[in-house]
Amino acid sequence: MRSQLPVVTALIVLAAAVGAVRGEEKPVPLKPGPGEDVVAANCNACHSLDYIRINTPFMTGKMWEAEVSKMISAFGATIEPADAKTITDYLSRNYGKPG
Ligand code: HEC
Repeated sequence: MRSQLPVVTALIVLAAAVGAVRGEEKPVPLKPGPGEDVVAANCNACHSLDYIRINTPFMTGKMWEAEVSKMISAFGATIEPADAKTITDYLSRNYGKPG
């Protein structure tokens, strides 16, 4: 009798792959804190919030300020100046390195 193992293995691999794809679609959690909701509302329109976390190790407060300005001036993000300030403060506090 032939073993069913290869079929079972293929099904497990397929299920895992589907799970992984689904996982990517989950909203990226931000660190909790004041301004978190403003960031989630304004920085998720064109790309994943993962962009913030991926860049975290390099970014100082000044660089986050420049980054938010760039999203607005270069890429056309529509963010109110007051929200931009909230976002910059939040990012500097939670995802910035000193300096
Ligand atoms: C109008 C669309 C848009 C909005 C809204 C937007 N971004 Fe971006 N963002 C882009 C584009 C376009 C890129 C660069 C292209 C790419 O790599 O996909 C980018 C790239 C980035 C990067 C990677 C580094 C870089 O400069 O390429 C970071 C970090 C980032 N965005 C942060 C933010 C933050 C924080 C916000 C909220 C203030 C935000 N983005 C809102 C369009 C946007």
